[in-house]
Amino acid sequence: MTQPTDANTLLEVKNLQMHYPITAGLFARNTGAVKAVDDVSFTIARGETLGLVGESGCGKTSMARSIVQLYKPTSGEVLFDGEDLVKLKGGKMRAMYRRVQFIFQDPYGSLDPRMTCGDIIGEPLKVHKLTNGKDAYRARIAELLTLVGLNPYMANRFPHEFSGGQRQRIGIARALAVEPELLICDEPVSALDVSVQAQIINLLEELQEKFGLTYLFIAHDLSLVRHISHRVAVMYLGRLVEVAESDELFSNPQHPYTKALMSAIPLPDPIEEINRERIVLQGEPPSPAKPPPGCVFNPRCPIAIEDCKAAIPELREISPGHFVACIRV
Ligand SMILES: Nc1ncnc2c1ncn2[C@@H]1O[C@H](COP(=O)(O)OP(=O)(O)OP(=O)(O)O)[C@@H](O)[C@H]1O
Ligand SMILES: [Mg+2]
Repeated sequence: MTQPTDANTLLEVKNLQMHYPITAGLFARNTGAVKAVDDVSFTIARGETLGLVGESGCGKTSMARSIVQLYKPTSGEVLFDGEDLVKLKGGKMRAMYRRVQFIFQDPYGSLDPRMTCGDIIGEPLKVHKLTNGKDAYRARIAELLTLVGLNPYMANRFPHEFSGGQRQRIGIARALAVEPELLICDEPVSALDVSVQAQIINLLEELQEKFGLTYLFIAHDLSLVRHISHRVAVMYLGRLVEVAESDELFSNPQHPYTKALMSAIPLPDPIEEINRERIVLQGEPPSPAKPPPGCVFNPRCPIAIEDCKAAIPELREISPGHFVACIRV
């Protein structure tokens, strides 16, 4: 267990593994597995935003998708309000989908180009039978459009008639249609201009305040994650290496990988920026199909010792709420 759980916990992920089989040959023999997510545990409290960062390919999307069961996890538990999503089936599963929604990185690819914006937002209302009659259906779509800063008259337009930012607003409106409690946001603004990014982030923050939403927020941009998250988890090669409150993590990073990530954030002061020490990691991240023995970061770690190859370090609480998986800390 990495973090304390209580009645305030909305999501508790326990020892989650998402391994993709590697197959070869005519009979698709199993020759190994890509360990995209390996033994990950964390919690998110109601109304909290947990940021998730880590370089490309470390397993963020795999984790997000296996939490919402878009991919069936290899093992582990995903307790949402105490219920294990991995074990749910049929009607119970559908009911749960109302409470957990997913926002995709590419708002264009995830919207059906043949449907009007109104029908895209309205589809979940129909699936879950949430409105009674045509008038109520239209009124709810207008309400949702307004909620995300779009105009109700836009309901008859098609996705290609919107800008990228507007399309992401449609994706958010669709997710909100079922009045969810948890939103899993997988790089929701990475495909957008910086100015539009800020608008969408502000919208997500407003919505959180208004509806008491809980977010798992995945992003590449560390400054953005710092801004929006209460706590941040750092992932490397399928594993969490550090979890702490946002300000604590950014002002006092402990894991050598987190330190390297932080040292790549540009500083606003040009003099400080020139004089600072940058930690440049050697080599590429190893393949998740063949993770190194012991700590997965050891081959690139500037402070690794022989013992680092011996065992996988556990997330340890080094100060209240600050967890690090490193024997050198
Ligand atoms: N459907 C899949 N089948 C097999 N392997 C996959 C699949 N999806 C992802 N992978 C592999 O799992 C690993 C983690 O990928 P994932 O997309 O979860 O990373 P990510 O952290 O989201 O990266 P990015 O920041 O680029 O979005 C990668 O090695 C990837 O090649
Ligand atoms: Mg991804």
